[in-house]
Amino acid sequence: MNKILILNGPNLNLLGVREKGIYGNQSFEEYFETLKSQYTQIDLTYFQHNGEGAIIDKLHEVGFDYDGIVLNAGAYTHTSIAIADAIAAINTPVVEVHISNVHQREEFRHHSYLSKNCKGVILGFGLDSYRLAVESFL
Ligand code: DQA
Repeated sequence: MNKILILNGPNLNLLGVREKGIYGNQSFEEYFETLKSQYTQIDLTYFQHNGEGAIIDKLHEVGFDYDGIVLNAGAYTHTSIAIADAIAAINTPVVEVHISNVHQREEFRHHSYLSKNCKGVILGFGLDSYRLAVESFL
């Protein structure tokens, strides 16, 4: 069975509460339940942390064992060379995801340190970006 981890970074614990005009009304926990019911053939797990170090630790933990990682690193996308290095260090392919179309937003969101080390990038489809990323591993 395919093992896929969805890894969410800072402030994504507030989905459904935070800036609803950009990120929507649904909590990730609720969305994740729906997603899991659509993909019963895969072992889909979810982890969220607001800290850079915990995200790196999780990449190390699953990155030699899992078949795929769907990563929304939030604002760390635009700042973190350390997460970029962790993606390069592991064997499991990582797909970078963003809920919003970051290219329609502030200039500082246009650059990602992570994309270069990822298998691909999916952005701008709301929460459906996660499903499309999961689909890319099947
Ligand atoms: C985000 C976009 C980032 O720029 C932002 O910092 C986030 C969420 C997205 O999913 O659209 O926290 O990654």
